[in-house]
Amino acid sequence: MIPNAYRTVHCNEVRKSHIGQTVTLCGWVNSARDHGGVIFLDLRDREGLTQVVFRPEENADLAAKSHDLRDEDVLQITGKVAARLAGTENDKLGTGDVEIVATEMKILNKADVLPFQLDRELSNEDLRMKYRYLDLRRERLNRNIRTRHKITNAARNYLDAAGFVEVETPILSNPTPEGARDFLVPARLSPGKFFALPQAPQQYKQLMMVAGLERYFQIARCFRDEDLRADRQPEFTQIDIEASFIQRDDIVTLVEGLLAAMFKAGRGIDVPLPFPRMTYQEAMDRYGSDKPDTRFGIEINDMADVFANSGFKIFKSTLDNGGVVRAINAKGFAGITTGQMIRLNELAIEAGMKVKQLAFIKVERDANGVLEYKSPLWKFFGEEEKAALVQKLGVEENDIVFFYAGEWEDACNILGRVRLEIAHMQQLTKDSTALNFLWVVDFPLLAFDAESNGWVAVHHPFTRPKAEDEHLLGTDQNGKARAEAYDVVLNGYELGGGSIRIHEGDLQSKMFSVLGIGPEEQRHKFGHILDAFRFGAPPHGGLALGLDRIAMLVSGEDSIREVIAFPKNNKACDLMTDSPTNVDFKQLRELYVQSTWKPKVKDEAADAKA
Ligand code: AMO
Repeated sequence: MIPNAYRTVHCNEVRKSHIGQTVTLCGWVNSARDHGGVIFLDLRDREGLTQVVFRPEENADLAAKSHDLRDEDVLQITGKVAARLAGTENDKLGTGDVEIVATEMKILNKADVLPFQLDRELSNEDLRMKYRYLDLRRERLNRNIRTRHKITNAARNYLDAAGFVEVETPILSNPTPEGARDFLVPARLSPGKFFALPQAPQQYKQLMMVAGLERYFQIARCFRDEDLRADRQPEFTQIDIEASFIQRDDIVTLVEGLLAAMFKAGRGIDVPLPFPRMTYQEAMDRYGSDKPDTRFGIEINDMADVFANSGFKIFKSTLDNGGVVRAINAKGFAGITTGQMIRLNELAIEAGMKVKQLAFIKVERDANGVLEYKSPLWKFFGEEEKAALVQKLGVEENDIVFFYAGEWEDACNILGRVRLEIAHMQQLTKDSTALNFLWVVDFPLLAFDAESNGWVAVHHPFTRPKAEDEHLLGTDQNGKARAEAYDVVLNGYELGGGSIRIHEGDLQSKMFSVLGIGPEEQRHKFGHILDAFRFGAPPHGGLALGLDRIAMLVSGEDSIREVIAFPKNNKACDLMTDSPTNVDFKQLRELYVQSTWKPKVKDEAADAKA
């Protein structure tokens, strides 16, 4: 520890070897106990706890003063390290063999009664957020924030050693299409105009490749106005990477090493390399997700061969009309409760199911010990069909099989969602320490968006089509073009994504056109990129990792809020500083912004009449 005027040791430092020494510590009163006039208190700093004892027979004044101490008062204590009485040692504490017999105490600050106790779990998230600085005093959050520091440091060191240069890019910038809404900032000096906060430094990092930097990284703050989830915040941090003269496999190897270094630094474990790879098509077919959680099975099966001539009309006609019939077998889950069944159907409907109930077959033994296939469908199946079904899905007693017949994409979304929920209900990952990393590759380049009746980029518009699919771009086969894009996934979370980029002006312009961005709009929005590509842009590519998500998984948390010092709540508000907030009219006028928002004033007269 760096020596300082306040203390000679921290609160997790004194051991038996210090017995007899005089030490000075600082920290907060964690708890105090009165044992027949002798006060024992645990003093806490960020490193841990040390027991301090005030004995009236040794220093009556000090002992009397110690009676008035409250939890969370801030103290400086000087005293002699002594062995604890035999039988009172605490083997859960590093300092558990010793105590400090206080000879001096300075109360550095008094604390009011806290709005919540620090040693109890608190379910009221809003209260935690309002007093976040107290929430952060808890050991778990303190550890998370420090783990985050360790993994960030490991990332910086790793990238520095690999020749990457850290560059800061502007926060006040122009819109970057990453698929979310922009946060806008009015520009006072350009009346009526706005900056956008970066959704990612995507265009700047590509421009740095044109600038000849060759290897760039940044621990970059990004801003996206999108619906929040446990793994999403409106402002979050990326480890953003870009390199020139590089191919997909080089980036994959670099990022695997980077993640391994971060997990080693944060959790002390060696992640096995290389990570497996899976195409987007396979991930969707088998897991119904482009970020599959491969810690458990319950895989999706294509049932076309089994039901090609099914006696069940809906299956047969779906297949005849180019649709799919897919099934998952939830092993040992025939005892599903009515409530669980309702929940699965609700999720399936949210995921796009048009009917009210998933078709299922439940396999249980009846009172006479005969195996029964309980299902509204079973009676429609022929004998061969039944045998093929049982064989293909390995159906046994206590299994429940769910089916979906319809379009491929719906089947993936619905059964993918149901699969995750079943795993959750069966607690398949509850005690899992498994870290299932994988790469998902060969994403489609474009997706058709029914709402805008046009093509949108699956990653972003700067992503390169695979060389063998380039000819499909701008034809009626747009949807078949695959991208040189890759995502890295861990336990069902997308940790990061990237691609090899387009570096030729013509191809970039064509891509914009396919996305419905005409020449004028291209010049207006992306003129800088198109210009840059005229002056010798090297082939380049990169990726961005979500630092918050990595910190969450390294720390074993299930929300990124637990690894961000001052996160927003689920309504994207900061309850501690009470932001966002109203601004006064004068401030808006200076920014040339008009607001039509009116505060809701309670109409007391109308209320009285009613
Ligand atoms: P992408 O949009 O996939 O790629 O983002 C990269 C990673 O950032 C994390 N992430 C988020 N984390 C928390 N809250 C959010 N709202 C949020 N949004 C994204 C995820 C994600 O995998 N410019 C490209 C990268 C590139 O092509 O190089 C980009 O931003 O972990």
